[in-house]
Amino acid sequence: MSTPPLVVMRGVTKRFPGVVANDDVSIELRAGEVHALVGENGAGKSTLMRVLYGIYPPDGGSIEVRGREVRIHSPRDAIARGIGMVHQHFVLVDPFTVAENVILGQEGSQLLHPDEANRRVAELADMYGFQIDPSARVEQLSVGEEQRVEILKALYRGVDLLILDEPTAVLTPPETSALFANLRRLRETGKTIVFISHKLDEVLEIADHITVLRRGKVVGATKPAETSKAKLAEMMVGRPVLFRLEKPKTKIGEAVLQLEGLRGGRLRGLDLEVRAGEIVGVAGVEGNGQRDLADAIMGLRPLEGGHIVLDGRELTSISTSEIRNAGIAFIPEDRQDQGLVLDMSLWENGVLGRQDDEDFSRRGGILLIKRIKQLAVRLLQEFDIRARSIETSARTLSGGNQQKLILARELETDPRLLLAAQPTRGLDVGAIEFVWSEILEQKAAGRAVLLISAELDEIYALSDRIVTLYEGRITGAYAPDAPAEEVGRGMLGDVAATKAG
Ligand SMILES: Nc1ncnc2c1ncn2[C@@H]1O[C@H](COP(=O)(O)OP(=O)(O)OP(=O)(O)O)[C@@H](O)[C@H]1O
Ligand SMILES: [Mg+2]
Repeated sequence: MSTPPLVVMRGVTKRFPGVVANDDVSIELRAGEVHALVGENGAGKSTLMRVLYGIYPPDGGSIEVRGREVRIHSPRDAIARGIGMVHQHFVLVDPFTVAENVILGQEGSQLLHPDEANRRVAELADMYGFQIDPSARVEQLSVGEEQRVEILKALYRGVDLLILDEPTAVLTPPETSALFANLRRLRETGKTIVFISHKLDEVLEIADHITVLRRGKVVGATKPAETSKAKLAEMMVGRPVLFRLEKPKTKIGEAVLQLEGLRGGRLRGLDLEVRAGEIVGVAGVEGNGQRDLADAIMGLRPLEGGHIVLDGRELTSISTSEIRNAGIAFIPEDRQDQGLVLDMSLWENGVLGRQDDEDFSRRGGILLIKRIKQLAVRLLQEFDIRARSIETSARTLSGGNQQKLILARELETDPRLLLAAQPTRGLDVGAIEFVWSEILEQKAAGRAVLLISAELDEIYALSDRIVTLYEGRITGAYAPDAPAEEVGRGMLGDVAATKAG
C-alpha cells in the first residue's frame, strides 16, 4: 500500500453570509511537494487554507491528515497536527529578538537561557539554509527577514506542512530568490508547502502541482510542465488575459506636478516633474523612499525642505483634504492602513475623503445617505467588486476587491494627478489588466499620473518616462523602452550609468 497523502481536504464547503467561499473543494497535499493555489481575487484561496489551519470551521466536507479524519478547531490544533501558516501581516513582537520570537509561547520557553535560545534557533536556521541572526531585534529586520522568522517559528513547532499566503507580494526580487532557495531546501527534507500567489511566473518556477480555484470551486489541477502563464491565467479568470496593453498616444502637455528638493524621512533632495497626459513610473527597490514620497505629496508627513507644486500652486504645508481638493487622487501602497477603514461599510468607504463635498452632504454636515449609497452601487458595478452588498464591512472583502474599491473611489474624483503607489499589489491577473487599462485611460484623458511601483513589469507596461529612486533621490531618467539592465543599475544607485531626461 502506498502512503496516504499528508493532507486530504474532501468536499470542503465554507459559507459566509451571502457567499459560498469554498464550494465542495477537494485537494490533496503530498509530502515533499510545493503545491500552488491560484485563482482570482475572492476565489476562496485564503479561506480554504484558514479552514485547514483551524481558523474557520467548515460547513461541510472532511479533512484527513496522514490518512486519518480529523477536526481542527484552532491554529493550536493545526500546529499539533503538523500544519503551520504564515500570514501576510506578520505577528512578531518588535522589541524581542529573533530567537525570542521563534521560541515564544513554546512550552518551557521562559526557562531557556538566551544563549541556549540563540543556539537552538541558529541550528534550526542552519539546517534549512536560512540567513538570520538569532540575536537581532525584530524591529531592525527587513520584511524578508521578518518572514524568515515567521517560517522558522512554524518549523520550530515541528510542522510538516507550511502554508504561505502570498509570501512574495511584499518581497524584493533578491528576497524572493532567497525565499525560493529556502523552500527548495524544505521540500528536499520532505516538508510540504502550500504557496498562494498571483505571480504566475513564480508559480511556474517553484510549484510541483497547481490547483486553480474560481468562485469557490476547483476548476483545474495541473503542473508547470503541462501549462503556461497564459493558460493558467485563462483557467483562473475564464477568458484570455493580455499581458501587454496598447499605450494610448497622447500629447504630453504642461507640467502638472513639480517636486523640488524634497527632504524628510528617507527623501534626500528629490526632484521630479509630471506633465499632463504623461505617466511617470518611479522604479526602485522598496525602502528607498517610496512611501515617504507618496506621504509627502499627500501631506501625510512633514517635510524638512523642498516644494510640492500642483498646477503652479504650492501645496507644501496644506492639509491632506485640501491637497485632495486641489486635484490629487491617491492609491496608497497599504490599503489596510491608509486606504480603507476596514470596519466601515463599503458605501462609507466609497465616499471616504469626499463626504463633505456638496454632492454628498448638506451644509451643516448632514450626509445625503441615499446619494452616497447610489455612488457605492455604481462603483461596485463598474469595477466588478465582488461583495454581497454595499452594507458589508470592507474587512470581509478579499484583498483584491479591497484594492479595487480604493481605485474606484479615487478615479471617480476626476483628478488632475493620479498618485498610484503599488496599485496592483495582491491583484489577480485579470484585475491587473483592468487596473492597468484604467490608469492608461487616465493618461488618455490628459491627466498626469505618478506611478510608484516595485514591479518592473508594471513600470514598463504603463510609463512614458521611467525614473529610478535610490536612497531618497532620483538617480536617472529613461525612455520607456530602455533596457532593464540600465534601469536596474539606476535602481541600485549607479548614477553614472544613467542618462539625463
Ligand atoms: N471573514 C469573512 N467574512 C465574510 N466574507 C468573507 C470573509 N473572508 C472571506 N470572505 C469572502 O469569501 C470569499 C473568498 O475570499 P478569500 O479571501 O478566501 O479569497 P482569496 O482567493 O484569498 O482572494 P485574494 O486573492 O483577493 O486574497 C470572498 O467573497 C470574500 O469576500
Ligand atoms: Mg487571499
